[in-house]
Amino acid sequence: MPDNSVETHYTRHDLGEIILAALKKAGKDVGHLTPDDLAPVDEFHGGQRPATIRLAELVGFTGTERVLDVGSGLGGPSRFLAWRYGCRVSGVDLTAEFCRVAEMLTRLTGLVGRVDYRQGNALDLPFADVSFDVVWSQNAAMNIADRDQLYREMHRVLRPGGKLALQEVAAGPGGLPHFPVQWALEPGISFLLTPEATCAKLEALGFHVVTWQDTTEATFASAQARARHAESAPPPLGTHLILGSDWQAMARNSARNLEEHRTKLFNAVLERAS
Ligand SMILES: C[S@@+](CC[C@H](N)C(=O)[O-])C[C@H]1O[C@@H](n2cnc3c(N)ncnc32)[C@H](O)[C@@H]1O
Repeated sequence: MPDNSVETHYTRHDLGEIILAALKKAGKDVGHLTPDDLAPVDEFHGGQRPATIRLAELVGFTGTERVLDVGSGLGGPSRFLAWRYGCRVSGVDLTAEFCRVAEMLTRLTGLVGRVDYRQGNALDLPFADVSFDVVWSQNAAMNIADRDQLYREMHRVLRPGGKLALQEVAAGPGGLPHFPVQWALEPGISFLLTPEATCAKLEALGFHVVTWQDTTEATFASAQARARHAESAPPPLGTHLILGSDWQAMARNSARNLEEHRTKLFNAVLERAS
């Protein structure tokens, strides 16, 4: 029997309809949507759109890049990279429902032909060797136990000299995280490594570090703000639509895990050496 627990964690049936209803409630014209309209819900990682911009600036896109987003979720970051920089982006994600919604939102933002999605596993990427200039991934590795295979696959599909851009949640020295968190209700699907162990794996697999930024302190204030906002009613459009009934506890735990040094956050850009 395949273990579908990660996909089950992320699957909300009728998510597309739920998001469309929320967009209308928020006063958006669903016939004329831009990636900015969707950012409160489709940038599904800590720091949301500003974090995507920070990582993109570290990469230094010129617009000619062919990009793969691994664990692309609802497609917020991939659509943004295509829209803002002109890159051609493919997304791959384990969660079939997310891929369906990503395709719907791509049609609604007029980005078909510039972004595409495939349901698939990051441990067996459905792409040929050396097919991308940039491999990009935000907040997906924490659900993946076999990091050697994950980073080996990222290395395989990247061209030599190409860049790997990562935003990850890492293990801190303060002990296991408090659960639930956004990526797991319980420890069974949470696989955090320390930043040092992550870096060592990447280097052993043939990447060299261009930039490595600890973003824990910089993100803590926004995590605290999200935890405070979670005490009131949510806005029509937000990631609570994806996270389900535990979204408030997840926001509180995210801030607490950072405060107690149970989790750390980093952005990194690495180059495929050969
Ligand atoms: C927190 S979401 C982040 C989505 C997106 N990167 C973003 O920042 O908006 C984590 C995503 O990783 C995906 N994921 C987890 N394990 C995966 C795997 N082995 N292969 C592909 N995708 C995976 C999940 O389905 C989910 O969409």
